[in-house]
Amino acid sequence: MFTDHQVNTFSLIAAFFDSCRFGYEGFEGYRKSTDLYKLLRCIQELEASGLIDSQHTVFADLGCADGRVNILMSYFVKLSVGIEIDSEILAEFGPRKADLCSRIEQTKLILPPDNITLFRGSSLDPETYSKIHAQLGVRFADIDLFYTYITLHDLFAEQIAAAAKPGALYLVYGFSRVLPRYEKLEILAPDLGSQGIAALYRKELESWNKSVQTSSRVPAILRA
Ligand SMILES: C[S@@+](CC[C@H](N)C(=O)[O-])C[C@H]1O[C@@H](n2cnc3c(N)ncnc32)[C@H](O)[C@@H]1O
Repeated sequence: MFTDHQVNTFSLIAAFFDSCRFGYEGFEGYRKSTDLYKLLRCIQELEASGLIDSQHTVFADLGCADGRVNILMSYFVKLSVGIEIDSEILAEFGPRKADLCSRIEQTKLILPPDNITLFRGSSLDPETYSKIHAQLGVRFADIDLFYTYITLHDLFAEQIAAAAKPGALYLVYGFSRVLPRYEKLEILAPDLGSQGIAALYRKELESWNKSVQTSSRVPAILRA
């Protein structure tokens, strides 16, 4: 259960970002913005189910754009990591967060925790994870919850199947009704948060050791 103060904070953040959502062909890759009200329902279900918690969970948005998902998620996890390939889009994070924080302060709500770090790079490039490890001490195999808004969802699923830890969660936003199936990932919640927009997958528990040990496609930095 959340206090009124918390609920008002999350609502302000959702309203702030949802007033500037994007849905266009960006310079690199297809850019669209998550509806944070809908995502909030998903997060609340994850929290209520004990699948995430602010003491332990490492979260990664694999195409974070201006970091809006990272900001909302930061209240619910220990570390909120974002990766964005397009430096111009990533540069929107600082000014937009500063604007948001001044509104949060004006309304005496709760500022985001100091646990958000965004990286410029490709989520498919081992070098990106080397940078994350050097800065945060976090490896790919330490990430508990991966996120994408459709972007490269199938390639990220392959990477998670090959190199994430057993039981790692993968939240794919942007699908309803017809859900993709990914090898070695099971569907845990086909309609997380009952918003008709996001599906939660989990890496099979038994597939991890064998796949990491046998796959020559898994770079060393991605291994535990
Ligand atoms: C659909 S947008 C989602 C933005 C944000 N996660 C959200 O939900 O509001 C996808 C973002 O992924 C970025 N992207 C595309 N390919 C990428 C890659 N290989 N690694 C990291 N980011 C990537 C795009 O530039 C774009 O900003």
